[in-house]
Amino acid sequence: MKIDIACVRFGDVHVIPVVSPKIALEVLRKMDATFASRPTSFAAYRFSRGYKSAVLSPYGDQWKKMRKILMSQIVCPKRHDFFLEMRTEEADHLFNYVYNKAKSYEPVDIRVVTRHYCGNLIRRLMLSKRYFGKPTHDGGPGLDEIEHVNALFNSLEYLYAFSISDYFPQLIGLNLDGHETIIKATSETLKKFHDPIIDERVRLWRENKGSVHQEPKDFLDILIMFRDREGRPLLTSDEIKAQSSEIMMAAVDNPSNSVEWILAEMMGNPTIIQNAVDEIDHIVGKERLVQEADIPHLNYLKACIREAFRLHPVAPFVVPHVAIEDTNLAGYLIPIGSHVLLSRLGLGRNPEIWHEPLKFKPERHLDGRNSELVLTEPDMRFISFSAGRRGCIAQTLGTVMTVMLLARLLQGFFWSLPEGLSTIDLAESDKNLYLAKPLVLQAQPRLPLNMY
Ligand code: HEM
Repeated sequence: MKIDIACVRFGDVHVIPVVSPKIALEVLRKMDATFASRPTSFAAYRFSRGYKSAVLSPYGDQWKKMRKILMSQIVCPKRHDFFLEMRTEEADHLFNYVYNKAKSYEPVDIRVVTRHYCGNLIRRLMLSKRYFGKPTHDGGPGLDEIEHVNALFNSLEYLYAFSISDYFPQLIGLNLDGHETIIKATSETLKKFHDPIIDERVRLWRENKGSVHQEPKDFLDILIMFRDREGRPLLTSDEIKAQSSEIMMAAVDNPSNSVEWILAEMMGNPTIIQNAVDEIDHIVGKERLVQEADIPHLNYLKACIREAFRLHPVAPFVVPHVAIEDTNLAGYLIPIGSHVLLSRLGLGRNPEIWHEPLKFKPERHLDGRNSELVLTEPDMRFISFSAGRRGCIAQTLGTVMTVMLLARLLQGFFWSLPEGLSTIDLAESDKNLYLAKPLVLQAQPRLPLNMY
């Protein structure tokens, strides 16, 4: 029998996984206002500094305030355009870093490349920093950047992880599964990197009453500068710190995971890589590097990314949606406080929706289409950015990050298996949905030498 919705009870909480697009649409569109809250948990409390940021805050004024600021000040079209140059510099930096590896015949760890491209880009946008310390000689991450990106991924892992004390709050403090120690240490690492920069910048802005720069130069400036009608700062230092960490966490995992999986899948399927490279050669050519302005025309690449979001989501479930009142969903009574878990895996691999669901087939997203393909999925047959009140605010930024990462890697380099390897093991990790072993490939330049 096919099951579209289930219910498991932990303590007082009804946890309700959903694998049908019809019910997912009901949650995100029709009953969006009812399922607009988030659960409380030790990890969420810690990383959001007491629920001060947008993703992790339960429904209420604080969430509304933070989400509104992000939408109107950080990811709005005007700011997105303003930061184009910075994003392009990071795409160029990625390209040069891989070229340095290629010309010295060193194997390329794709996980390092993809995660650090995301880490570099979001650090630049957020804090104007690619490096916390000194730049490295080959453009790769230094020890600080490795520690920082690991801490961001660690935070995400523990935000998603099952912990018994999240359902039995009386157990908080006993650290039964060891998560509390890890979460505290990880949040201290993030604070160690972010707080001194934020404190110093807040001091400069507040002392100089905002005159240190004419224009905000990064997301941090924007958060600090944001003022009410009387000219008073709207965000406290704690809110700025919580929101900054959260933006950095939100930006790193989806783009890097999907591009690593795409390259891994492509290694076993030369037609797919050829189609993608042919598209880039046709649209962009070999005499200039792919730019964000090309993205609307790169439908095959976007089909590959959609396929990676479908088959290899970064997490099994969307961040939980919590019912703010007793309600009815798909004919079932859902008590207030229930956690609805939209299953990214269950939707994306649902055999009722997808033919040969376990096969990586980008073409399935193109079916006779001439118009521009996008990464959003309004029908919820798989989840990319989700939708509704708690849907992702950064569809544009997330799209350009992911497409530019994939496009630059494919345009600039021939990719092959390292010596001694005949296939890529596509096994998932038994702890999460990442490739079990980081993907390592050999790169060879494929553009005229003057392009590097
Ligand atoms: C390809 C990249 C990205 C993907 C696929 C993605 C996906 C998602 C998903 C699935 C959610 C949960 C939606 C829900 O609960 O229904 C979400 C929420 C969110 N994302 Fe993204 N995201 C991406 C990049 C980003 C970036 C770069 C930022 C920040 C600049 C960001 C900021 C947020 C925020 C603030 C929320 C929570 C909104 C709320 O709870 O009100 N995301 N994202």
